[in-house]
Amino acid sequence: MSYDFEAVIDRSNNYSAKWSEMDKKYGSNDLLPMWVADMDFKTAPCIIDAMRERLEQGIYGYTTRPDSYNESIVNWAARRYGWEIKSDWLIFSPGVIPSVSLIIQEMTEKNDKIMIQEPVYSPFNSVVKDNGRELVISPLVKLEDGNYVMDYEDIESKIKDVKMFILCNPHNPVGRVWTKEELQNLGDICIKHNVKVISDEIHSDIIFNGHKHTPFASINEEFAQNSITCMAPTKTFNIAGLQMSQVVLPNEEDYKRLDSAFARIDIRRNNAFSLVATEAAYNHGEEWLDEFIVYLEGNVDFAIKYIEENIPSLKVKKPEGTYLLWVDFSGTGLSDEEVAKALVEEGKVALNNGTSFGIGGKGYQRINLACPRVMVEDGLARIKKAITK
Ligand SMILES: Cc1ncc(COP(=O)(O)O)c(C=O)c1O
Repeated sequence: MSYDFEAVIDRSNNYSAKWSEMDKKYGSNDLLPMWVADMDFKTAPCIIDAMRERLEQGIYGYTTRPDSYNESIVNWAARRYGWEIKSDWLIFSPGVIPSVSLIIQEMTEKNDKIMIQEPVYSPFNSVVKDNGRELVISPLVKLEDGNYVMDYEDIESKIKDVKMFILCNPHNPVGRVWTKEELQNLGDICIKHNVKVISDEIHSDIIFNGHKHTPFASINEEFAQNSITCMAPTKTFNIAGLQMSQVVLPNEEDYKRLDSAFARIDIRRNNAFSLVATEAAYNHGEEWLDEFIVYLEGNVDFAIKYIEENIPSLKVKKPEGTYLLWVDFSGTGLSDEEVAKALVEEGKVALNNGTSFGIGGKGYQRINLACPRVMVEDGLARIKKAITK
């Protein structure tokens, strides 16, 4: 490997949410953090170099995006997913969840129904409720082999009067990379019932061997016109602290509406560093990303083997993408509260409680594996200690 994914970097004192906010949630910072979805790897050198050059100029005034910024996104989508998008479909936003919130405010009315599928990244639930919209939940179904699928019958039975569907593609936390057929089925239901789709594709670049990300809007023109895609380089390159993302909006009318909503709250400009980091990542970060995925998949395979051999009371299925492992702890015989307490007090490890992902999360924990292998090993040993004592 030409990039170093083995180095353990001390983040305990660098204002990291993952490392320094455990005391608020778990009562102590003296834990190994395997919760918040960022990585403990340095980002790609091309990004650091671009930011260093920007830093050394010493002037950090208001920015303006050159055409090459959007072109880097357009080219990335074409190269990585075979998705032909246009520069003038793109809207800058500092984050995916801020975009989702603003889209809800602009495209729906108070008390309108919005559907999500749980278990899912918890802000999907709160962003709907916090905006005064009514939440409609269609739970994912777990099959005998541990694979998760969408429940189309359940969706159809609940979708009457729903205005919007928020899709997690690929899916956090269950690690599904939805196939074209699955997305087509969902999209057809949404077209039939006139439901606008927001497709959160923030995890679209972290896909394991044998799987392929399908942008929802790439499936056909009807889906493109009926959807709003949110994507970002932030998970891909571990640059979430720079705060940038893009909304992809082929529907001209929706584009104008959302563009003016962002303008109204004056969120239009990148900060000085996200500006150069985005272009560097999308133009020059591919080699780093490909190596990272190989290393990460090694972590995932290692963790699954370790669990099978050393903590057989846990059940896990290999994710198809993302750096998140969704693990069933129900076989331990412990309640969720007991598991959570043991992990923190005995294991000294911070995981995400499954219940925070909503329906279907009971009995589960989410483990973030985007860290050097020695930390994965350490974390798993801590989990073993907590569960098997
Ligand atoms: C599915 C999903 N969407 C959005 C986000 C957060 O995105 P942002 O920081 O751009 O709001 C995350 C972070 O973990 C996520 O997993």
